[in-house]
Amino acid sequence: MVQYHITGGKPLRGTVPISGFKNAADGILPAAIMCDGEVHIENVPCIKDVLLWLDIFRQMDVKVTPQGSNTFAIDATTVNTETPPYDLMSKMRASYYLLGAMLGRFGKSTVSLPGGCEIGERPIDQHIKALEAMGAEIDITGNIITATATDGKLHGAHVYFDVISVGATINAILAAALAEGNTVLENVAKEPHVVDVANFLNSMGAHVRGAGTNVIKIRGVEKLHGCSYAIIPDQIEAGTYMAFAVATGGDLTITGVIPKHLESIIAKFREIGAQVETSDDAVRVTRPGRINRATVRTEEYPGFPTDMQPQITTLLCLADRQSTVTESIFENRFKYVTELARMGADVVVKNRVATVYPVKGFHGADVRACDLRAGAALIVAALAAQGETNLSEVGYVERGYENIIEKLQAVGASITRVETAD
Ligand code: EPU
Repeated sequence: MVQYHITGGKPLRGTVPISGFKNAADGILPAAIMCDGEVHIENVPCIKDVLLWLDIFRQMDVKVTPQGSNTFAIDATTVNTETPPYDLMSKMRASYYLLGAMLGRFGKSTVSLPGGCEIGERPIDQHIKALEAMGAEIDITGNIITATATDGKLHGAHVYFDVISVGATINAILAAALAEGNTVLENVAKEPHVVDVANFLNSMGAHVRGAGTNVIKIRGVEKLHGCSYAIIPDQIEAGTYMAFAVATGGDLTITGVIPKHLESIIAKFREIGAQVETSDDAVRVTRPGRINRATVRTEEYPGFPTDMQPQITTLLCLADRQSTVTESIFENRFKYVTELARMGADVVVKNRVATVYPVKGFHGADVRACDLRAGAALIVAALAAQGETNLSEVGYVERGYENIIEKLQAVGASITRVETAD
């Protein structure tokens, strides 16, 4: 069993470098196997999700060569499509991207239904709708989903998504990049990682236009070529360190970020009393006074991200008055509040709305992460708490935060990772 032991109450001070974006890597890595040449990907975060992708690739005879700590060369020239390792794929939410990526190149793809964090029902009907519109036949048997291009190759299509979905948007772009003809995707997600995946595909010779707007147009190309590409910084990791600074009343300079991607987070943090200074590629966060109450509603980009909801809800526990937080993306993303209550929080959830009652402070406790961002929220509370917190199920945290122990220790946090035999 692995636990984090955290002694709270220490203001964090110093500089924290931000890693490459997990959610962009989750789309870019499967896109890399669409090319039968070598791609060099820089700023790859070394987190559990990425290591899983690389293990999956190796089992599919994709050549993966580390080139320094965060750069990998990936060569899928000799990829073996017959043996995708279902056991590994079922551990990861983003395994569905192999559907779009492999369909485009091979006309067939079989993956296991997605695993990952339990934050809601998480259907994939919009992914299937787009792939079917492009000429794929879908079969779901047990936990395995097979998509086959009925004419041997996908063709361009016009798809209007019923729900704005990051995953379905990326999957449809991947599939359309190597389809025959033109595809138009409407009502798409505009998140920075959607744009990053599109930019990566374009660096390999794809023709994807309009990513970052409501409509994406793709002209299918026959082949993709090798390229070098650097993944964008992780705006959610940056937002989480902003929360650590506010929780502890510290002074953190968070570097290697794109402040534009952080706009909704910065605006909300200023509203709750943080002082945030931005420069070209860094933000400095302090908290001169008390935390103010706020009303928060998660939205698709450029709204306030669902992936920052648990962290800001935790901060609002320490506010002067009652706050409300509405989760409009995932219906089950408040599971962590029962753990937070063990540390002294008073949060009442009804349907998708949390009423956050102010408490004087948190106290240390034995708590358990139930998903990636829930784990981050419990670390926010633990760093602010009086006494020691023992956080278990940290595998979730390590799915998405690179070197979190080292980064926190470097700015003065008392946190250790302890492995026990149990
Ligand atoms: N939805 C459908 N049908 C679909 C797809 C989605 O109804 O076919 C619904 C979902 O149930 C949800 C909403 O649409 O209510 C949005 O889901 P979306 O597809 O945008 O989310 P996702 O692609 O499954 C990614 C990230 C999540 C992040 C969300 C929202 C990855 C691997 N995951 O999930 O990241 O919360 O976008 O930005 O990129 C995390 O990092 O902790 C995390 C969970």
